Amino acid sequence: MADLVSHPDEVKVVSRRFGNGAANLDRYLELDGYKAVQKALAMKPEDIITMVKDSGLRGRGGAGFNTGMKWSFVPKQSPKPKYILCNGDESEPGTCKDRLIFEHDPHSVIEGVMIAGIAVGAHAGYVYVRGEYRYLLEIVQKAIKDAYAKGFLGKNIFGSGYDFDVYWHGGAGAYEVGEESALMESLEGKRGIPRIRPPFPAVVGLWGGPTVINNAETLASVPHILLGGADWFAKLGTPKNGGTRLFCLSGHLNRPGVYELPMGYNLKKMIYDVGGGIPNGRALKAVVPGGSSCPLLTADEIDVPMDFDSLAKAGSMLGSGGLVAVDDSTCMVKFALRIMKFYQHESCGWCIPCREGTDWLKKTLIRFHSGGGVKKDIDNIQYLSENMLGRTFCPLGDAAALPTISIVKKFRKEFEDHLDGKPCPFEKNAVREPVLA
Ligand SMILES: Cc1cc2nc3c(=O)[nH]c(=O)nc-3n(C[C@H](O)[C@H](O)[C@H](O)COP(=O)(O)O)c2cc1C
Ligand code: SF4
Repeated sequence: MADLVSHPDEVKVVSRRFGNGAANLDRYLELDGYKAVQKALAMKPEDIITMVKDSGLRGRGGAGFNTGMKWSFVPKQSPKPKYILCNGDESEPGTCKDRLIFEHDPHSVIEGVMIAGIAVGAHAGYVYVRGEYRYLLEIVQKAIKDAYAKGFLGKNIFGSGYDFDVYWHGGAGAYEVGEESALMESLEGKRGIPRIRPPFPAVVGLWGGPTVINNAETLASVPHILLGGADWFAKLGTPKNGGTRLFCLSGHLNRPGVYELPMGYNLKKMIYDVGGGIPNGRALKAVVPGGSSCPLLTADEIDVPMDFDSLAKAGSMLGSGGLVAVDDSTCMVKFALRIMKFYQHESCGWCIPCREGTDWLKKTLIRFHSGGGVKKDIDNIQYLSENMLGRTFCPLGDAAALPTISIVKKFRKEFEDHLDGKPCPFEKNAVREPVLA
């Protein structure tokens, strides 16, 4: 189980029950648990959607789409059952927040799923937990079982006449299954590859029914919005970026950990104050601001508010909130290679630009990093990556290309320093790695 960290600048909303034993249902109830869903049952569904929309809550899974807006796309009438899916696949390198929610406050996710269901007229929800988080499945299973035992789930919840069921499902260890349509394929018992869109899940989703899919942190935020109000939540953050966010700080930092900070918190402060700065007197070289799919920022580019719009303006993305600090002892060619190895391994292989592109890039980077590069490779790495952009069935191709392009553009000199058979300047006794490793 992960250690909890804290910092005076934290504003605890989603994490406010962490460390308080709230995985236990009685304790959750003492801490205002299941009050929000009862409030939702007394509201008109469209008012719930308006409230969530006005709160400025944007998806914490990566794309940052306005949550209430997403819910509003679900048709009111549907011949097929509607579903709510909680995406707890959390596999983006650098991201480790949903696991804390499942560990410390699993009922908040269940309650969020229920509220989303009431808002769109669904009567069933699924909590999909990453395969490698098997130890958390027991906690989620118990939470669902306890909620049924109290009559909070099943028929006639809270005497309202509304029926709602929640099921859990464990993944089998594929990053790609975090992609919403691949997740639905996986839930249906098929191979986890994405679906062609349109139609979008809100209209044709799980088993062909209208489906809302949201990240675990997104859903865990919803009960707090219901109780605190849209205005309160919106004001915690910046315009159009409501609330707080669980930021996962890792890499070369003195105080790594998951901290809940207001949206728009300054990135530089997050690194030097909250994260305690760079260890061993070293200097910061680069930052991955929101998970490995995001373009990197250099040390000169970090005076920026951490919200979706500001990061986009700065040429990167807030993504899933996984911040990785990189110090000046790091070889950026090797860093690019490490990222590409991940995406090459996780590509589902369905479309050629991603399947072949990630493989070519990995092999080129291995050769390049070990001293077998030629000048033309540098442009080729960028060209190959750019040709993957927007040409794949799902955004995994973009996720592999974007950080690579930014590394080549911003750290070209480091690539040049590896040329002419030179070993990696950052590694003593560097040896050539076999190209097919
Ligand atoms: C390759 C890939 C992996 C993804 N992995 C996750 C994940 O682990 N968790 C998650 O919530 N969203 C993940 N997403 C984003 C989802 O497709 C989807 O946008 C998200 O679950 C929507 O929820 P939100 O609106 O609450 O962010 C992934 C997307 C891609 C392309
Ligand atoms: S982009 Fe990659 S992961 Fe996505 S469908 Fe194509 S091959 Fe599969």
